[in-house]
Amino acid sequence: MYNAGKIIPGLLIFLGLVTFPFWSNLGRAYDVPELVMPEAEEECVLAGDWMRANHMILLDDWRDLAVRDNKRLFTNDAGKRFDMSLTKTCLSSQCHANKDTFCDRCHDALAITPNCWDCHVVPTIGEE
Ligand code: HEC
Ligand code: HEC
Repeated sequence: MYNAGKIIPGLLIFLGLVTFPFWSNLGRAYDVPELVMPEAEEECVLAGDWMRANHMILLDDWRDLAVRDNKRLFTNDAGKRFDMSLTKTCLSSQCHANKDTFCDRCHDALAITPNCWDCHVVPTIGEE
């Protein structure tokens, strides 16, 4: 016969240990690292706060629109138009020309590696 008195507490301790990485992070926001903002441009394609939370959704949309539907112009709320392009818009010399001191600071802090740059070129700083 098995001994429920030992197995059940043992199981609970085991569950607590294996799920520790999940609940120990509950409610903890990551510290946003220091970011170098563009000098030439004051505003992103959409509001900065919105972009901080949702840029990944916008970029996935841009990718799908450009690659699948060949739609390559994005018009923002203010009627301003942008090329839907990672390299030519987001990482242009006017904007986040330095991926290391902007995009990568957050992604490294979060230990995520968006796969975009497996294919897309990271512009060399100082070039268009
Ligand atoms: C497997 C290779 C590959 C990966 C990974 C990839 N792309 Fe692309 N992407 C392409 C190719 C090929 C095109 C087509 C180039 C064109 O038609 O201008 C493209 C075009 C685009 C475009 C429009 C054109 C431009 O100048 O940027 C956007 C925006 C885009 N991708 C975003 C992304 C994003 C965001 C990611 C990561 C989440 C990503 N891509 C990952 C290969 C890739
Ligand atoms: C303020 C912090 C921050 C900055 C700055 C930042 N990111 Fe992100 N990025 C995130 C977070 C958080 C996620 C979401 C991670 C998740 O959902 O797993 C993310 C995810 C992404 C993804 C989606 C990856 C995927 O596989 O779906 C892309 C693409 C991306 N970022 C591109 C960029 C680019 C390009 C820049 C610079 C122009 C940038 N990010 C700057 C925090 C940031």
